[in-house]
Amino acid sequence: MKERLQQLQEDSLAALHSAASIKELQTVKVRILGKKGSLTDIMKGMRDLAPDERPVIGSLVNTLKDECEKVFTERLTQLEEDEISVRLVRETIDVTLPGRRTVTGSLHPVTLVTDEIVDIFSRLGFSVEEGPEIEKDFYNFEALNIPRDHPARDMQDTFYINDDLVLRTHTSPVQIRTMLKQPPPVRIIAPGTVYRRDSDLTHSPMFHQIEGFLVDELVTFGDLKGVLTHFLNEYFGADLQVRFRPSFFPFTEPSAEVDIACVICGGKGCRVCGGTGWLEILGCGMIDPAVFDAVNYDTHKYSGFAFGMGLERIAMLKYGVNDLRLFFENDIRFLKQFS
Ligand code: DAH
Repeated sequence: MKERLQQLQEDSLAALHSAASIKELQTVKVRILGKKGSLTDIMKGMRDLAPDERPVIGSLVNTLKDECEKVFTERLTQLEEDEISVRLVRETIDVTLPGRRTVTGSLHPVTLVTDEIVDIFSRLGFSVEEGPEIEKDFYNFEALNIPRDHPARDMQDTFYINDDLVLRTHTSPVQIRTMLKQPPPVRIIAPGTVYRRDSDLTHSPMFHQIEGFLVDELVTFGDLKGVLTHFLNEYFGADLQVRFRPSFFPFTEPSAEVDIACVICGGKGCRVCGGTGWLEILGCGMIDPAVFDAVNYDTHKYSGFAFGMGLERIAMLKYGVNDLRLFFENDIRFLKQFS
């Protein structure tokens, strides 16, 4: 029996010492001290021993048991520490590495142009109005002195939804909506999306305009010239040359188109301005009495001016963009240049 114990001691301690993982260590412990373990087995066999042998063997068994427990605890502590150091090495965080960057977006160039123009007119006391993109024929045409079957409708190639509804071809219907809503004086700026059946290098079926108009007593063409010249000088630079050229629009009388000295060549003549030195930038005029009649404004008491301009065109001139399509392709490489 003594030899058996001796052998067991050697085997057990060696096995405990050499256990390579916590799991293996637990298994070894069970194999020795568990219910069916080898030491437990020996303890069960004690009753077959001679009475004088029992205390001797008993004390040997106890010593072995204590020793196994002790070695087990030591080995366990060591394995746990090893595990922690391995994890510490594996999971180190290099706090000196740069963090993940959050990229901020930028406003679309057409939005930038809109905001800046609205800003300039706000300082002149204009307020912003909006209208629907699906518009009644009445607001888009009839009330603006463009009757059905009149050749003036040919000026704009229209998307008709049905006889009474169109995708608005310009922001001018906001004039009608506003004037029907409120009496003079009015001072309004109306940015928005408009649609025309037109698609080539310089035309897109969807584009943006800003409409502006002012109605009050004693408004003259001089006021129109003053306001628009001020705006163009604020937007394109104080020394910019501006000229007014007679033109025609059904909803204004007299009408004019405004040119600015070519922003590319400064007026000398180049490809962009077709050699003329001038760029057409907006349409304008004194609001036609026929329009005032449509909204029941007193034509004897009030007069006013209106103007409208294409925002993509202005953005192209302001930022030197030579292809209209760039505004609608949403190519991030193009857009991020405006941040
Ligand atoms: N609505 C015109 C267009 O889309 C632009 C325009 C011209 C607006 C003259 C006006 C104006 O208010 O007075 O071509």
